[in-house]
Amino acid sequence: MDAAKIKQGLAKRDFLGFTHLDAAKIIELFDYSLFIKKQRKESPSVSGFLPLRDKTVAMIFSKPSLRTRVSFELGIHELGGYAISLDGQSIGLGSRESVEDVARLLSRYNDAIVARLHEHAVIEEIAEHASIPVVNALTDLSHPCQVLADAFTLYERSLWHETVKVVFVGDGNNVANSWIELAGVLPFHFVLACPEGYTPDHKVLDAAREKGISRIEILHDPVEAVTDADVLYTDVWTSMGREEEKEERLKIFSPFQINSTLLAKAKPAAVVMHCMPAHRGQEISAEVMDGPQSIILDEAENRLHVQKALLVKLLNHDQYRKFHLTHRLRNASRKIKA
Ligand code: CP
Ligand code: NVA
Repeated sequence: MDAAKIKQGLAKRDFLGFTHLDAAKIIELFDYSLFIKKQRKESPSVSGFLPLRDKTVAMIFSKPSLRTRVSFELGIHELGGYAISLDGQSIGLGSRESVEDVARLLSRYNDAIVARLHEHAVIEEIAEHASIPVVNALTDLSHPCQVLADAFTLYERSLWHETVKVVFVGDGNNVANSWIELAGVLPFHFVLACPEGYTPDHKVLDAAREKGISRIEILHDPVEAVTDADVLYTDVWTSMGREEEKEERLKIFSPFQINSTLLAKAKPAAVVMHCMPAHRGQEISAEVMDGPQSIILDEAENRLHVQKALLVKLLNHDQYRKFHLTHRLRNASRKIKA
């Protein structure tokens, strides 16, 4: 995208990660997600509010999915749009035809592309050649839609503040990388407790630390890491695409299970999160997964609300801006009256 277009505000908007956002934009998105969530609960009929009317979204899945696929597809439908799910293998992304041709072709038919892929470089290539917004629905490197929903889940419970201590126990994988990226934008205290050799992407880590916005620690002792934590977070020990390492990982990661003994080291009011799919008895015990401190299903539900908010921001920016202007005016007039 050329610099002149970006300056004129004509550049298309992608969501590949957090690096191009600032804290104010993320909070705006959370406030819009609150509105979207409330709106859905108050008026279950989809007829009134249709900001994606006449818009189509092509979704490419090169890896399995339950939450991402259902929440995007349902969210697009509820906003009045139409989603087309494509299997990465069957369309032959990068094999039957070039990534560039797929990106340009889909741009002729659709209004956005949502993609779950292996290499992150491929989603960057799609974004480079598509003339419509591109959303990262997980790559080997990152999973920003997940972490957006996670942070929103803390925000809506008023748990999000500059000193909130979020401890990710497990693999330095795509979800951990997105938490670290977020720490380069929103201030909080992020700790990753992982085995030696399973650290996060060093470029993502260096870039977030360079921003100097959050305290980011990488530790290898889970007990030390979770002491006084407000949030305990985990994910699978073996991510999609690494299945051949599963047996080795089961042994290496066994001290990194979130169970009631580990949870007892955190603050008494700590909450437990997991992006799912979860494996009870591996990265999390059944007792904790299904216990009173778990907010795992709320977090999964919030994928729907934040992704709907994100799609309105990307595809109907006028509507999104109008909401924020009205919101600001309403808050200002409340202050004047008070
Ligand atoms: N958390 C998540 O992205 O789930 P799926 O892999 O089922 O989409
Ligand atoms: N790290 C996991 C996340 C699944 C939502 C994976 O990539 O398989």
